[in-house]
Amino acid sequence: MSPGQIEVEGQRIELEQGETVLQGLERAGLDVASGCRAGTCTKCLLQAQDAPPPASQRGLRPTLTAQNFFLACQARPTGLLRLRGSRGPEPVRARVASIDHLTEDVARLRLTPDERFDYRPGQYLDVLHPGGESRSYSIASLPSDGWLELHVRRIPGGQVSGWLHELAVDAELAVRGPFGQCFHVADDDQRKLLLVGAGTGLAPLVGIARDALEQGHRGPIDLVHGGLEPNRLYLRDDLDRLARESPQLRVHHCVLRGATAREHEGPLDQVAIRLAGALAGARAFLCGDGEIVHLLRRSLFLAGLPSGEILADPFLPSKPALA
Ligand SMILES: Cc1cc2nc3c(=O)[nH]c(=O)nc-3n(C[C@H](O)[C@H](O)[C@H](O)COP(=O)(O)OP(=O)(O)OC[C@H]3O[C@@H](n4cnc5c(N)ncnc54)[C@H](O)[C@@H]3O)c2cc1C
Ligand code: FES
Repeated sequence: MSPGQIEVEGQRIELEQGETVLQGLERAGLDVASGCRAGTCTKCLLQAQDAPPPASQRGLRPTLTAQNFFLACQARPTGLLRLRGSRGPEPVRARVASIDHLTEDVARLRLTPDERFDYRPGQYLDVLHPGGESRSYSIASLPSDGWLELHVRRIPGGQVSGWLHELAVDAELAVRGPFGQCFHVADDDQRKLLLVGAGTGLAPLVGIARDALEQGHRGPIDLVHGGLEPNRLYLRDDLDRLARESPQLRVHHCVLRGATAREHEGPLDQVAIRLAGALAGARAFLCGDGEIVHLLRRSLFLAGLPSGEILADPFLPSKPALA
């Protein structure tokens, strides 16, 4: 099949054999947001005037596909595809309002953007490092909080997480976003919501749980936070307080080893499925380490949850692991 063309901002680009829209735009020197290049992170989401190739809309929410949104890294059109612009969101300056170290390797940063930054709790943004690199971090706050809350785990030798941990109050940085479609949609206020994440996977889940409560969700919400050992779990008192104030919310702490009376012990997927009970009509949100999210997704699917009701944000590293 012969490769197609793309038309963007008055420019026509002939795609080469096997080339994606993302690659074609980059070859033409256009600045396009991208991340995983594997159809997972949705950072390369663009909108077309014409219907995009179906493969480039796989996994997107119906509200997006109906508006011809598609993933540029998955699109290999065979005819002409006219785009509604190629640019993602512009960078926004922000200031560190506070930084708290919640465990030995997790810091909570609250950033106040200099200008309006619209997002849905649970989406993520990119932090732009002064050296030119960027990394994604999920947003734990609600727009009504007035700040952007991030939970950042310091990765040993990690360029951006290490830098963020050392920032002082009032430091300036640039962020860009929002990205991702792992957020609450109030389409059924009785639906069971199952929120499961390990480590800083808690960040988007806190945002999603608070957002659902604020939107008047009445069905049960189970939030299961996992960690290796009890001292790796954080914000426990805040979460327990939120659960006491909201009868429909149950918060569960889960560890792989060394559980005390406050935690469940065992593999996160098995504990979450046991605690959630019947999954008919439920929707799951899974966030955190890529391998854990993959395992959770698989286990929930095998337990009967349709893949369309499993929303996930795997925290994939932007660099391959060191050998
Ligand atoms: C959609 C999305 C949302 C994310 N949300 C969050 C969040 O809310 N909080 C958060 O802390 N992180 C989050 N991440 C991960 C984050 O974007 C960075 O990948 C992470 O902070 C490491 O960046 P770094 O620059 O410090 O390390 P790098 O300089 O990129 O990596 C240094 C070395 O560490 C390895 N490495 C990178 N990440 C890991 C890891 N997780 N475990 C083990 N080794 C690793 C790399 O392979 C490399 O060898 C998210 C990622 C994605 C894709
Ligand atoms: S870069 Fe296309 S989905 Fe991640």
